[in-house]
Amino acid sequence: MEIRNSSFITVSRDTGDTAPVFRCRFGATKPVASACLEITALGVYDARLNGQKVGEFVLAPGWTSYDHRLQEQSYDVTQLLKESNELLVTVGRGWFRSPIPGWMDSEDKQRRLHQPCGLIAALRIEYGDGTGEVIRTDNGWDWAESPVRFSEIYDGETYDASFVPVSFEPAVPLEWSKDILIPQEGEEIRETERISARRIFQTPAGDTVVDFGQEVTGYVEFSADARQGDRVLFDHAEVLDADGNFYNANYRSAKARVEYTCREGRQTWHPGLTFFGFRYIRLLSFPGTPKKEDFTAIVVHSSLQRTGWLKSGNPELNQLVSNIAWGQRGNFLDVPTDCPQRDERLGWTGDAQAFVRTASYLFDVEKFFRKWLHDMAADQYASGEIGQVIPDVMPQRDSSSAAWGDAATICPWQIYETYGDRAVLQDQFECMRRWVDYITSVTKTENMWTGHFHFGDWLGLDAPEGSYKGSTREDFIATAFYAHSTSLVIRAGKLLGKDVAGYEALYGRIVSAFRKAFPEYLTQTEHVLAAHFHLAVDPKKTADALADMVRRDGTQLKTGFVGTPYLLHVLTDYGHADLAWDLMLRREYPGWLYPVTMGATTVWEHWDGMKADGSFWSTDMNSFNHYAYGAVADWLFEKAAGICHDDEHPGFNELIYAPHPDRRLGFLQTRLDTRHGTIRAQWTCGQDGIRYELTTPVRTRVILGGKETLVEKGTYTFWQEEKDA
Ligand code: BGC
Repeated sequence: MEIRNSSFITVSRDTGDTAPVFRCRFGATKPVASACLEITALGVYDARLNGQKVGEFVLAPGWTSYDHRLQEQSYDVTQLLKESNELLVTVGRGWFRSPIPGWMDSEDKQRRLHQPCGLIAALRIEYGDGTGEVIRTDNGWDWAESPVRFSEIYDGETYDASFVPVSFEPAVPLEWSKDILIPQEGEEIRETERISARRIFQTPAGDTVVDFGQEVTGYVEFSADARQGDRVLFDHAEVLDADGNFYNANYRSAKARVEYTCREGRQTWHPGLTFFGFRYIRLLSFPGTPKKEDFTAIVVHSSLQRTGWLKSGNPELNQLVSNIAWGQRGNFLDVPTDCPQRDERLGWTGDAQAFVRTASYLFDVEKFFRKWLHDMAADQYASGEIGQVIPDVMPQRDSSSAAWGDAATICPWQIYETYGDRAVLQDQFECMRRWVDYITSVTKTENMWTGHFHFGDWLGLDAPEGSYKGSTREDFIATAFYAHSTSLVIRAGKLLGKDVAGYEALYGRIVSAFRKAFPEYLTQTEHVLAAHFHLAVDPKKTADALADMVRRDGTQLKTGFVGTPYLLHVLTDYGHADLAWDLMLRREYPGWLYPVTMGATTVWEHWDGMKADGSFWSTDMNSFNHYAYGAVADWLFEKAAGICHDDEHPGFNELIYAPHPDRRLGFLQTRLDTRHGTIRAQWTCGQDGIRYELTTPVRTRVILGGKETLVEKGTYTFWQEEKDA
């Protein structure tokens, strides 16, 4: 890393909210063979060499646990070099100097807000004659205020296109540890799609609103014919209210606003140092008469390869799958976040562990999660505690919750399961083990986890009035996840050749203590956890009791963040696939398809984020792009379509094909790209039976109608008579 031999630079005076632009002018007088720019910033940067954007990474260097880790990027800039060159780098506050989290203050937040902005770079030029040189941030750089008058993650961006940086001043050295520099680990954040505005209209309240037809994360590009000094001003929203008016109260304190001062003439612009979660924008000021052709939504997220597809004969289910994939795109912006719009956008651990399985089927997230898990390990406290969010921007001791902190074991294990590479376990094993040890050290009751703060079964529908926490006992959840995490430490440790005898003994004691303390299960989620984590003495009986309970509850789920991801799995695993499908296809609240019937284009935080009459559940905690409940897609792949594997075959190096068709769909077609090739599976319900088509790249155990057949790599069809289906 050449960059390590350079020094950080910063501005020579406080620029307030204005983003500085750093400048370096240099000549390259001999023919250039190659040129590579290594660069990173304390903030987010936009680098332009001779007017051309360097690379495709936006919001670089992304978000890491900056006190420990700062990713450095390398770009091949050979083609951009000329004889005389100008490198301009604008540095915005980004996540580095942002008021995150938006809703609470702390000393740590104040510290971060007042950190200096900084830049470090090394441009290595190799000439054709075998000589070379390195341009460094150490000297020869100057800086000025840029047209970006304000930019920050929550509040948006203010840009003055009529502003010309004139008075450049020498940049000054900044003392900042270079030990935090690491090569780029995650995926680059990129602009991945452009969506034209679908319509522009006046609301009953008289606002001019542009609708992009899809909730996305990114920013809006607009074009305008303007006089110098004209203003463009707009804010963002996810939904319209019951009267069809623009509604953004659920963004809470995040202003999510763009302000632009025009220069003379025709111009096209979009923000580049911030992002928004939105479907609509409200034009508060715009020169002339805005037309829908003037607006394009630019979709921004980690550049992930799509790997999983599902299509059925039910358009609403297809829309749900689309909403889940959009939810992932909108929330996988370098860090797996809860939501992309309000004053959070944080790496909530609980949400990530709920969704990681689905995420790993829909997109290739191996690199993405490995980077985030490294941040988790870096942020882990000496006690082994894991913060509620990673990067941990809310450092509070003993506030780690069960099913949130357990992301430390669940996420690495899932990445290993989906992709089959032990490296993630190797990297994370200490973090996994220390998380379990933390629980052991803080519990008030040996071999259980009691007496601690928890989020409970967050948003469970059996919550008492006025509470966000479902009725499932917190000690129940905590002890169940303690057992589960311990079991994952054992499995990972065995694979890595570690001595896990102590954890095996601990696991046995947790299971006994759990059984003794909880002879009965009181809620849907308690049944789900007891069966799914194999803590119940008789999981089948537990699943049967769950099925009865769900039916008694009116064939309605009552589970929250903790129980929902496993609910349909438990029902299907123990003979209640029909009931799982009833829940899956339910169109009324509460259910996955209800938001679809309400026009949702992403997954909602609450089943009734918007009620049937168009009113809202709440203004306080009401995101329309929260991926957690989208976790149901892993059931669609594994149980509905039937593509799964057993523990012995991580990474789908051997397959189990065990579909659970439902006539109401007509057909279900799946494709999953794995490390061992593409799997295609389809079932189609005909008049007399069901036809199955499977293309598998690996040896597969086919389980249909209780019968098992072993097939090698190839394409197969199977037929199941109606009476056997
Ligand atoms: C977030 C959630 C998160 C929760 C913790 C919320 O504000 O949006 O998704 O997991 O807090 O319970």
